[in-house]
Amino acid sequence: MKGIIFNILEQFVVENFGEETYDKILKQANLGMKEPFVSPGTYPDEHVFKLVVSAANELNISAQDVLKSFGKFTFGKLAEKFPVFVDPYNHPKPFLMTVESIIHVEVNKLYEGAYTPKFTYTNTEANKLTITYSSKRKLYDLMEGLIDGVGDYFKVPIRQSRKVYEKDGVEVCDFELEFLN
Ligand code: HEM
Repeated sequence: MKGIIFNILEQFVVENFGEETYDKILKQANLGMKEPFVSPGTYPDEHVFKLVVSAANELNISAQDVLKSFGKFTFGKLAEKFPVFVDPYNHPKPFLMTVESIIHVEVNKLYEGAYTPKFTYTNTEANKLTITYSSKRKLYDLMEGLIDGVGDYFKVPIRQSRKVYEKDGVEVCDFELEFLN
């Protein structure tokens, strides 16, 4: 996972719970790292999972809830850092449909060694969209948080439900979204 995600995770903890809490979480995660995370660096996915478990222990909430809140926070930071991807849109639906074919394509050019999830879209009704997510990381709770963050950003509440199933021998997850305005 790219360093930028670890940097945002640090910001998320520091802004909400303070520097000391982040230091404790980092220590408890026992990553064996001496240097800070740098944005263009690539670090083991295992580090993210360990930090999330450590944060869940420290904050007394579930790892799922850490990932959801972190996802919501992350979208705000990504939108701030990359206004070029969000500025052309005023509704989450057309914006979300650019993540696979534009945003994550650019991310893979910008960050060497990035691995982004695979999305396919099913667009049947005007106020609905299904995103089928597939990734070796299975970060469904992070995804849910990111989608909530997109809804907040565009000020359009998004109702979501998920279905995990196997497609061609690979686990995927449908995020069925309904845009409430
Ligand atoms: C400005 C918009 C966005 C930018 C710049 C961006 C960038 C990134 C970056 C840098 C990563 C890390 C890749 C790695 O560490 O190898 C990532 C991962 C991810 N992105 Fe995006 N992203 C954006 C929007 C979104 C949105 C709107 C969603 C969801 C609807 C999303 C879903 C994800 C997920 C779930 C991951 C985690 C990796 C995985 O599941 O395997 N992203 N993105």
